[in-house]
Order: sequence, then structure tokens, then C-alpha cells
Amino acid sequence: MQETDLSDEKLLEIARNAARNSYAPYSNIHVGAALLTEDGKIFTGTNVENSSYGLSICAERVAVFNAVSNGYKKFKKIAIITSEGKGIMPCGACRQVLAEFSNNIHIITLDKDSNVIKFKLNDLLPHAFRL
Ligand code: THU
Repeated sequence: MQETDLSDEKLLEIARNAARNSYAPYSNIHVGAALLTEDGKIFTGTNVENSSYGLSICAERVAVFNAVSNGYKKFKKIAIITSEGKGIMPCGACRQVLAEFSNNIHIITLDKDSNVIKFKLNDLLPHAFRL
């Protein structure tokens, strides 16, 4: 956790650094996520896989659960990237988990040419399930 507001590029760098802790011996895809809260704190997450494959969890959800379990629920943006510097889009399950806390969070990653790309969650998961 850090205490500054940062650029998209810097948030991606923090996410990539977090990906180094990924536990992904089955897929070999090491993902890192860095979540910026509204008050400028950063929580990271990595994917953690399991030999019972369905128990594996994505980096984005770990980042959200890390933030929530530390008392933070208002989020501005999340950066997602692999340890190799490849951009990835959040899976559907992670979009639903992000939607629990914010309609407007920005999702930041890289395109195939390594340009920073940014989406609003509401555009990636319109009409999210809500109770
Ligand atoms: N993964 C993530 O961490 N985030 C995503 O949004 C998509 C997929 C992970 C899960 C699994 O450990 C590996 O990438 C391959 O699916």
C-alpha cells in the first residue's frame, strides 16, 4: 500500500511489479493488478492458482479483496498487466466484483502495441447484476 495519486503508466508499473509475486504454475500467466482508491492509496493483487483449477483467483479480485479487507471500498482505477508487460482485460467475474463497488472505475491496460488503453467499467459490464 502506498499513499499517492499516480499516473496510469505508474499504476501499470506497480501492477507489473506485483505480477512478480503471482503463483501461476498451471497457466504460466503471471498477472498483476494495482487498484487506486479515491483517497490515493494503492492495493495490489496477483493471480493465485490451485491444483484444483477452479479454486484459482484472478489478480483483480485479490486486489479488490485486499483493499476491502483493509477498509477501502471507493476506487478510482485499476491497472492490469502480466509480468511480461502484456496487457489483459479483466474477466467477467472480476468485472462483476468491481461493479459491486463502483460503476465508474477506470480499467487501465495496454493494447497489442503497448499503448495505454483505458475503459470505464460501465462500458465493459453494462447492466451488472445487482440486488
Ligand atoms: N487471470 C487474471 O488474473 N485476471 C484476469 O482478468 C484473467 C485471468 C488469471 C487467472 C489464471 O491464473 C490465469 O490468468 C489464466 O487464466
